[in-house]
Amino acid sequence: MRGRGAVAALGLVLLAGAPARAVDLERGARLYARYCAGCHGPDGRGGAHTFMPHVENLTRKGYIELLPDEYLATVIREGGAAVGKSSYMPAWGGTLGEEDIKNIIAHIRRLGVR
Ligand code: HEC
Repeated sequence: MRGRGAVAALGLVLLAGAPARAVDLERGARLYARYCAGCHGPDGRGGAHTFMPHVENLTRKGYIELLPDEYLATVIREGGAAVGKSSYMPAWGGTLGEEDIKNIIAHIRRLGVR
């Protein structure tokens, strides 16, 4: 019994000590809903079609998974114009830190898997 407790305690220590860099999908989802879903749609499929800037389907098969994290981070950080896309895609670098950009990317990548 005591042994088990020690193992559980060790597990907790390991979890607590996990690098802050581990992606936080929960947080990524929340930030996405708050900042991105208005244009990209809650499921990443492009939102209301009545909405003016036409956005690509972020979840399209054979598409998003081919885009490197660095590219996605650049679009999110610096906006659409930075990669030759629509400047309706705002730059989020002033709002979101690098960690949160990673969290959101992880969330976007998960959308396509559903
Ligand atoms: C005001 C509307 C708007 C908001 C808000 C918005 N986007 Fe965009 N986003 C766009 C538009 C428009 C494009 C360009 C689509 C195109 O040119 O194909 C784009 C492009 C992108 C792309 C590149 C897709 C590609 O095909 O290369 C990514 C990734 C992206 N947005 C992620 C996000 C994330 C993450 C957020 C939230 C932090 C966000 N966007 C918020 C409008 C928006």
